[in-house]
Amino acid sequence: MVSKMTKIKICLITGTRPELIKVSVLLKLMKKDPQIQLTFIHSGQHYDELMFGSFLRDLNLPNPDYNIEVGSLPNSVQTGKMLISLNDIIYRIVPDLILAQGDTNTVLAAALTSFKNNIPFGHIEAGIRSFDMRMPEEINRVLTGSCALLNFAPTQLSVNNLIDNGILPNRIFLVGNPIVDAVHENIEIANKKSKIDQNLEIESGKKFVLLTMHRPSNVDNRENLKNIIETLLQNKEILYIFPAHPRTVKNIKKFNLYEEIQTSKNIRMIEPVNYFDMLKLMNLSSFILTDSGGLQEEAVILKKPCITLRENTERPESIEVGANILVGTDMQKLKSVSTNLWTNKVFYKSMIPHENPFGDGNSSKKMIQIIKDAHQKGKLQIPFIEFKNTIPHCKLIDTSSLDEDLITVSDFEKEKSCIILEIFDYEGNSIFPSPNLEITKKMKLKARFI
Ligand code: UD1
Ligand code: UDP
Repeated sequence: MVSKMTKIKICLITGTRPELIKVSVLLKLMKKDPQIQLTFIHSGQHYDELMFGSFLRDLNLPNPDYNIEVGSLPNSVQTGKMLISLNDIIYRIVPDLILAQGDTNTVLAAALTSFKNNIPFGHIEAGIRSFDMRMPEEINRVLTGSCALLNFAPTQLSVNNLIDNGILPNRIFLVGNPIVDAVHENIEIANKKSKIDQNLEIESGKKFVLLTMHRPSNVDNRENLKNIIETLLQNKEILYIFPAHPRTVKNIKKFNLYEEIQTSKNIRMIEPVNYFDMLKLMNLSSFILTDSGGLQEEAVILKKPCITLRENTERPESIEVGANILVGTDMQKLKSVSTNLWTNKVFYKSMIPHENPFGDGNSSKKMIQIIKDAHQKGKLQIPFIEFKNTIPHCKLIDTSSLDEDLITVSDFEKEKSCIILEIFDYEGNSIFPSPNLEITKKMKLKARFI
């Protein structure tokens, strides 16, 4: 048992815009908690005023105690430099716990620094999986999960993913996603304070789509980026408001698409906006077109339909509640779903979610309570030997070997008492297991049996 008077020394590490937003409520609660001694560390992965400074101010966050100022570097160099600097800081502080949120290089560096120094690590938004190992974020998520003593999972599905990865149940805590906390705390202020609609001269009631994209698969590849932009330019009747990520702007210029966008009548590319402006834009928009992780969640929370420019998502809950459609690189699908949402009121209504699967807005409070309980019981310690003696029950099923008639994903799951995690077509391409998808004879199903 630990004395109640001992303060818990916690280091909270952030690196990018979405991390600042998602930990904002937790950070402020910990800062004023008399039982917690907080050190706030920023890696500097995002550093521009519009990607960092404005978020500290709007979200009312203190300046970081340490800013590593790593800057933009190749992935491995960036991660390596963060490891070295974080190690030095951690060595000085010797915290009881290191916390980080999400799946960026910063989070991986934080998790590895903790692990290599035998300091417990708490992973916020643990267990979400796209099952797409081409994504740098997916590798970061899996590796980070292996290092964590406390896995704060946002949904039941993410709990299941962690169990499948062999993480012991006593290390997993279902707390919801802290993005709900951030939206609840800021939405009213944003609606009152933000003048973005006036600044952009958007007349009251004017319909528009909010567009963001920054995934390397969309914006680092000339053909993919060109296809998306040209499809949007062809959808002339739709007005897109496009706060563009610096990575995207850089590539738009590099691929000679800048002029075309700037002279177009229906794409308004603007600089990244602050969080209040973003919340207001989301609220006023007709629907959201994005490849962002956070925006897929915020769309559901704010009851906006979302089209996602990806082939898979680590937020399938947004699809399950009917609010999100993946279009991947299928530009015909992008065109038809967008037009449908823009013109067909019945279809539009069918995509407004009636529930929010991402939590009740209290995840920050829940995490603090769990940390305090663990500290009080002397459990904020890396156990020497701890292993799981049950093997996650996951199987790959070749559908050509099935005798039964072909059915949909959801019927198959009910009949076989399993959850289909991923489907591969005959060429090995990954397909998202939507409930109504028909299973054909040429598929492989990765299923977890209950
Ligand atoms: C990173 C994360 C991604 C997350 C995203 C949130 C990784 C591997 N990627 O992607 O998971 O979804 O942040 O936005 O960790 N740049 C600036 N100013 C800045 C920051 C970046 O101009 O303040 C430019 C630089 O040219 C840089 C590029 O953006 O090379 C990409 O930045 P980087 O942090 O490497 O990746 P993101 O695409 O932002
Ligand atoms: N966001 C913002 N201004 C912008 C673009 C995004 O405030 O111009 C917010 C958005 O509301 C969400 C988060 O930043 O909360 C998402 O960041 P991003 O898309 O860069 O990262 P991801 O969520 O994909 O990791």
